[in-house]
Formats: sequence, C-alpha cells, structure tokens
Amino acid sequence: MSPPAHVLVFPWPLQGHINSMLHFAAALVGAGLHVTFVHTEHNLRRVDPAAASPRLRFTSVPDGLPDDHPRSVGDLKDVAKSLMTTGPAVYRALLASLLPASTHADADADGRGFPPVSCVVADGLLPFAIDIAEELGVPALAFRTASACSVLAYFSMARLMELGEVPFPVGADLDEPVRGVPGMEDFLRRRDLPSSCRRHADTHEVDPLLQLLVKFTLHSCKARALIFNTAASLEGAAVAHIAPHMRDVFAIGPLHAMSVAAPAPAASLWREDDGCVAWLDGHADRSVVYVSLGSLAVISLEQFTEFLSGLVNAGYAFLWVLRPGMVGASQSAVLQEAVEAAGLGKARVVDWAPQRDVLRHRAVGCFLTNTGWNSTLEAVVEAVPMVCWPFFADQQINSRFVGAVWGTGLDMKDVCERAVMEGMVREAMESGGLRMSAQALAQEVRRDIAQGGSSALEFERLVGFIKELTA
Ligand code: UDX
Repeated sequence: MSPPAHVLVFPWPLQGHINSMLHFAAALVGAGLHVTFVHTEHNLRRVDPAAASPRLRFTSVPDGLPDDHPRSVGDLKDVAKSLMTTGPAVYRALLASLLPASTHADADADGRGFPPVSCVVADGLLPFAIDIAEELGVPALAFRTASACSVLAYFSMARLMELGEVPFPVGADLDEPVRGVPGMEDFLRRRDLPSSCRRHADTHEVDPLLQLLVKFTLHSCKARALIFNTAASLEGAAVAHIAPHMRDVFAIGPLHAMSVAAPAPAASLWREDDGCVAWLDGHADRSVVYVSLGSLAVISLEQFTEFLSGLVNAGYAFLWVLRPGMVGASQSAVLQEAVEAAGLGKARVVDWAPQRDVLRHRAVGCFLTNTGWNSTLEAVVEAVPMVCWPFFADQQINSRFVGAVWGTGLDMKDVCERAVMEGMVREAMESGGLRMSAQALAQEVRRDIAQGGSSALEFERLVGFIKELTA
C-alpha cells in the first residue's frame, strides 16, 4: 500500500499569496492529506505558531536578506531578487530532506509522523520550485493566487503584441478597446489590462516585469496542472480559454469559503485590530463603508487627502485600514488623528483588520477596495458592493470584471478625486441594483462551492489527482 499523500505547499512570501495557499492547505488537510507549508524564516516569525495541526506543519527557508532588512513594499524587488537567487538551493535541500530516502523517521517537534513528500504545489510565480521538484522526481503542480482573467491576459500577450495592442503607443487613449484576449473583446480596454502592460509606455519597450510575468505564466505549462482560486460562475470562460495551454486546470475557489476546508489557521503578517467588530456592532445595518487597499498598495499624501475628503463628504461612518508606512513617509498616528478629526466621530482607523469578519458583518454597506483577488473574492462571497480603486498587477482587470462583467460594484480606476469618490461611495451604499447583483452573484458562487457544485467537484477531482500521483 502506498503511503498517504503529503503535499509541500510553497507560496510567494506575500500576504495575498500566503492567504489563498493556506486556505488551500487547510482544504487538503480537511480531505485527509498531510501538508508541509513553506514560509520564509522572516514570515514564520510573524505568523501564529500555534496554527499547525496534526496533519499541517510549517517549515521555513531563508529569503536570503539580512534580518534587519525592512522588506517593505518599496523593497519588493530586493525580496524577489534574493528569493530567486538563494531560494533554489535551500528549497532543493529542504525538499530532498523530505523524500523517502531521508524520511524514514520524519517527525516534527511533537514526534508526529509525516510520510515522505509525494507532491509539490508551488506558487506559479516560483518556477524554480516546479523544476527542482520534477528533477527530484516529485510531481509538481502550479497554483496562481491571482484571477484567472489576469493569467489569461498573460497567456495572450504574444497575440496582443502581434496585434500591436501592447506596448501602448505614446499618449495612447486608455479607453480604446483591446483585441486579442479571448472572450473579453466586448469589454476590455487598455486601462483594464494588468498594470505592467502600461509601464514604459513612453519608450515603446515591453516592461521587464511584464516579460517576467509572461515567462512565469508560460512556464506553468511544465507543471502537471494549474490550480486557480476561482469559481465557474466568476471566471468559467477564462479558465476554459486557459485549459488548452495546460496539462490540466482546476478552478476550486473561493477557497476561504469552501465548506470542505478545515478552518485555515490565522495567517496575518500584521496584528489584527480586535476592536473592529465591536465597533461595527454599534452601527446600524449597512451603514458603514469599509476601506482597505490590501497588503501592498502605497499611496501619496495627496491621494490620502482625496480619499479622506471623499469619504467624509459621502457622510457615512467608515472603517479604514491604514497599514504602517502605507502613506509615503507619514506617521500612522498623524494620519489617524487627521482622519479622526475630519471624520467627526464617525471614523475608525486601524493598522490591520480581521477583514473576513468585517466583510461578513451586517453593518458593512460597501467596500472601497484595491480589488486584490483575495479581497474581491471575500467581498463577492459576502455580497458586499464594491467601489474599486485598483492599484497594480491583476487589480486593473479584476475591477473591470466587478464593474462591467458582474455588475457588483463601480470601477474608479485611474481617478483619485474626492467628488468622484463621494458619488461612487453614495451609489454603492444606496443602489438597490448593485446590491441585488452582488446577492445574485454570491448565490451562484455559494452554489459552486456547495456539495456537488463545480468548485467542490473540481476540488474532489484535484484530491484524486494528487492521490494518484502518490500511488
Ligand atoms: C496582491 C494582488 O494584487 C492580488 O490580486 C494577488 O492575487 C495577491 O497579491 P494584495 O494587496 O495582497 O494583493 O490584496 P489581496 O489579494 O486582496 O489580499 C489581501 C489579503 O489580506 C486579503 O485576504 C484580506 O482579507 C487580508 N487583509 C487585508 C486583512 O486580513 N486585513 C486587512 O486589514 C487588509
């Protein structure tokens, strides 16, 4: 009899990647598999150490940066460079140590036994993790934490370039429609493409980051399968267009809401403010605007001022996540005072919120969001209308889906003006149409994840697929 399946899950060391891959890990554990989840040493020190369970354990690799490196958003390039340079050797050694030859007595600190690793699920943005696993004889699958629609845009980039759609000409009209991304020609404009499509627009060069993202995307074709945290009712068409590029594709989300999942352990890299929910308890139904721009966005003081004025002028109570360091060099305490003074007792500012609890709270009426893919899924599941202010990466295309495809929110992209913000927040809070669309979509997604729904069935198929790889 073959040993039980044991999956090594390796995300990019960023909050948005860790969250969805940890929900995935928890779902595998819920299905009876063993999981070793790889953090960087730096992140492992920041998450809850009590989070492990009998079949889920955490391990870490160094990210190659000195301990005192700030690893802030502005330093992402350092993290990426260091991880790509030092990551392969340490990951190879880690994986080799978890293979049959060296794991006869593989037990963690509590003496619980784990079978040898039989399969790797690596972030699609860590291509070395796929190659090294296969070199060591371990089947590897890729997991993308971003939307399938954004990944389809990367898959379509050669065609977009052939058609002359990317890179944009100097001074291009960003409202021009874009041809070349299958299934999206009716609604996709230049401004909706992933943000790296527009960088370097003035030099006619293709942005190096875009080149890298396309390279990594195409590299996932080497994996045994590609996994998306999405659902058929959200992105069925995009997933179907990606399928011919891959050996297999699984759409198994939204993972945070899957009933098969054993609850995922807490994974916040910041300390959650635990007074948020009590504060919301004191508010009427659908009377509060929740504002969060995710884990990476950084805004200028001018943009902060427009946000603040727009929110105050809209007149509702608001809960605003302002991560330390998020507004240029400004100190959190100064910003907090500014918000509280302007908010006339109606505002609450926190460094980091328990976002899923906030979004499911009856007092929240709309979500002013960066449309990071996790936040988008979390709002969709809770049927909360969105005002979208996409910052970068897949967020530009995600917000187009919210505004023009699903009709569950308003897309404010590329504008940061108080009057526009005020108007959109009011509309999102008051519009029965948006709320009805949000509720209808949430119902469809809930059907996808319920027993017998497309995501639930795909997840079962994936568990079978992984077990067969182990046999
Ligand atoms: C980036 C990308 O843009 C995203 O689309 C990609 O898939 C992952 O990385 P990020 O800024 O991290 O996004 O946003 P998002 O994907 O929404 O992830 C943020 C996560 O942090 C969400 O799960 C959200 O619930 C959580 N969060 C955010 C909190 O728990 N508390 C907060 O206060 C803010």
